[in-house]
Amino acid sequence: MKLGIAVLAAGQGTRMKSNLPKVLHRLAGRPLLSHVLATAQELGATRICVVQGPGDGQVSEALAGIDCDWVTQLDRHGTGHALIQAMPKLHDMDRVLVLYGDIPLIRAETLRQLIATAAPAPLGILTATLANPAGYGRIVRGDTGQVRAIVEARDASAAELAIPEINTGFLVADRTKLENWLSRLTNNNAQGEYYLTDIVALAAVDGQAIATCQADREEEILGINDRLQLADLERRYQRRLAGDLMREGVTLLDPHRFDVRGQLKAGRDVTIDINCLFEGEVELGDGVSIGPNCLLKNCTIGANSRVLANSVIEKARTGQDTQIGPFARLRPQADIADGAHIGNFVEIKKATIGPGTKVSHLTYIGDARIGGNVNIGAGTITCNYDGVNKHLTQIGEGAFIGSNTALVAPVNIGAGATIGAGSVIGRDAPADKLTLTRAPQKTIHHWTRPVKIPK
Ligand code: UD1
Ligand code: MG
Repeated sequence: MKLGIAVLAAGQGTRMKSNLPKVLHRLAGRPLLSHVLATAQELGATRICVVQGPGDGQVSEALAGIDCDWVTQLDRHGTGHALIQAMPKLHDMDRVLVLYGDIPLIRAETLRQLIATAAPAPLGILTATLANPAGYGRIVRGDTGQVRAIVEARDASAAELAIPEINTGFLVADRTKLENWLSRLTNNNAQGEYYLTDIVALAAVDGQAIATCQADREEEILGINDRLQLADLERRYQRRLAGDLMREGVTLLDPHRFDVRGQLKAGRDVTIDINCLFEGEVELGDGVSIGPNCLLKNCTIGANSRVLANSVIEKARTGQDTQIGPFARLRPQADIADGAHIGNFVEIKKATIGPGTKVSHLTYIGDARIGGNVNIGAGTITCNYDGVNKHLTQIGEGAFIGSNTALVAPVNIGAGATIGAGSVIGRDAPADKLTLTRAPQKTIHHWTRPVKIPK
């Protein structure tokens, strides 16, 4: 069975009041349409065709990496007209599934169920029973429960408006029959549009079976028309992810103050305090704890490590039993070995920090290789940049760098070396020796403080 998927995404999105096409607005950090296309790809369709609006070239540009066809609906004459634009790209499919670009949280599982339920029938529609069905098309059924039509809210009678079963918009149909129904659509309705939903009455008139099934979760079928609905769906999505993580053994101190924009993998007994944001691919080992207000992006945190409040970690890795923060910043290619401590107001970039090493306060380490059990004093700076090029600083095992040291790279500090506080080290320092650069301290005995001259 060859499945083709049409994604209708040409709607104007007027209520977003935005220069950006609606389907490019982001939910969990990704364009709405990319959620739908990811779900479409999960279904293993032979072909996916997206219908975009005139002037929406930036939509196909923004999602250029995704394997699908794009067609443009030059004039917006309704959902039926939109689907007609996609049909030439799907001409050799057996079945066609219709998705909407602005209903992002539909799950592949639900669509698989729709496809399976509808398999014996030429048409299947996904419906929902809502406490407040306002605005949706209503499912009109006959005496024996068979579907007879979908009536749009604006065309519905008072009796039809009282029907709680609505059309979610998702449908699957036999491709040849669908082409026939689409060719018979008219725009004789309140909006003067070619309604895709009218194919249901045509199928019923033809005596064709119409299958229905329902989505499990309400958020799956919610569409986005304005920024309030977008924010509401974002929260529902985050709450769903939070629930999944908690079921897997993660403690979230407040699941309502937790955000993932990407993929978060967490081991057992991970604890995440409030207001943390995880972006891209983040992996937290068993027993990791993340303090409040942290941003973690594309990083791996080793087992039993503690990330303390207000830390920012991006494209970095830590081993096991590390302590990061509070107020630490790990930038790309920071690689922190087991048991190391990175303390407050410390910035690390493109540097390996050896096991058990401590960089506890007010320090910049960039372009460096630092061995194990090194102690870096407060206020140490690797001067890695000469204004043109970046240079490497290497510090051997067990070295001790006194506070307020400037390490002018390229420079090597030998294993076990001690650097006196306040030094500017521009040449290599030997292993196991004390090296320092410091003007001798002197006291001026005959000096007195100036006193104010009376006027
Ligand atoms: C549609 C259904 C309604 C259903 C509701 C569910 C029709 C006629 N009505 O109504 O029964 O309850 O969805 O959310 O289908 N689009 C185009 N080109 C167009 C018009 C729309 O591509 O010319 C796209 C939109 O981008 C959107 C989708 O089709 O993704 C639905 O359009 P929308 O205007 O939101 O339809 P509704 O009035 O919500
Ligand atoms: Mg809609």
